[in-house]
Amino acid sequence: MISSEKLAYIRDLFPVTKRQLYLDAAHQTPLSLPVRDALISFLTEGYEMAGPKPVWVRRVEDTRATVARFFNASPLEIAFTKNTSEGLNIAANAVPLVAGDNVVLIEGDHPNNAYAWLNLKRKGVKVRFAPLKDNHIATAETFEPHIDEGTKVVTLSHVTFHAGQVHDLASIGELCKRRGIYLVVDAMQSVGVIPLDVKALNISVLAAGTHKGLLVPQGLGVLYVAQGLDELRPAYLAMSSMLNPPADYIAQPDDLAVREDALRFEFGNVNLPDLHALDAAIKLIESVGVAKIHQHVTELGDLLLSKLDALGVAVVGPREHGQRSHIYVLDLPVAQWADYFARNDVRVSPERGGIRISLAMFNNADDIERLVAVIRTGQEENLKLVAIQPD
Ligand SMILES: Cc1ncc(COP(=O)(O)O)c(C=O)c1O
Repeated sequence: MISSEKLAYIRDLFPVTKRQLYLDAAHQTPLSLPVRDALISFLTEGYEMAGPKPVWVRRVEDTRATVARFFNASPLEIAFTKNTSEGLNIAANAVPLVAGDNVVLIEGDHPNNAYAWLNLKRKGVKVRFAPLKDNHIATAETFEPHIDEGTKVVTLSHVTFHAGQVHDLASIGELCKRRGIYLVVDAMQSVGVIPLDVKALNISVLAAGTHKGLLVPQGLGVLYVAQGLDELRPAYLAMSSMLNPPADYIAQPDDLAVREDALRFEFGNVNLPDLHALDAAIKLIESVGVAKIHQHVTELGDLLLSKLDALGVAVVGPREHGQRSHIYVLDLPVAQWADYFARNDVRVSPERGGIRISLAMFNNADDIERLVAVIRTGQEENLKLVAIQPD
């Protein structure tokens, strides 16, 4: 558990907690003071010294090592990208797929993952969607009936953005290992919130942006590519991808050997300001611990669910521990409630199934009580707004 003193300290680091009820961490992170300070010091170096680039580049390597540790990977298995979509598209174009091969996704998964693979239909690759009933979690059994000899990739979000399910990567990873299938994971919603061990989960490629659980502004992504998957080839090349980058900066047409590590997928300059921010953000996350953050948001979720039951408001996702973490979608009609929350200075997101509440390390029990009071007032103002009655 995060102690109350520690939680008060964390809340002080996120000034938004003093200004509004922020329940939208799954949309984007509010910035913290350590991240702001890292950005300011980067800007100051650029402003006063036109940038000590070798120092910045050295720090990128330090951040790569930090990110690697975070996932239980080696630094040479980490590349920096622009966002989740770029990482997923890199994966889709790196796996050696030929006409007739198939890729299995979950029906209704994030469109940025779906489009990356659907784009391969022009090469004759088949894309299959495994159905998932009533926002249940996906397990190996969800995928198994859709897998055959032609299946080369299984890909899914670890946590869904629209109902908050935490899919069972352990059983899915086991299945993929057994059947020799690449497992590609979109960890955008889970990174920084749920501990992720890419080795234990048998993940081949993991892609995530850093502007939610990793606490930095948009424009930076992380990509894990398991060592040894040498057959995964980069679709794009730049000097930074090459095994023997030409010292004279003249491209060598006869030497197109690429690096053997994940850096073969990184091309050109990287997002230096965000990488400075990421280092500060991960230090902040590690000062609390991802396991503790996960426990904290899950316990706040317990409180939220019990209060919602009393109000007669259902959630569209799972209720069981282990199947949910920080995302709770309230079965309330978006048309009335999104506006109502905005008028009351409560930051939430409209989603497929209703109003999405998403929790972060800086939220506390008082935030839940305030939310519940706002919902109760909304119900009293217009009882018609209540979508679901308790069973
Ligand atoms: C599961 C998931 N994947 C991907 C994204 C976004 O992709 P990108 O980082 O490319 O903007 C989101 C939300 O923004 C998401 O919830």
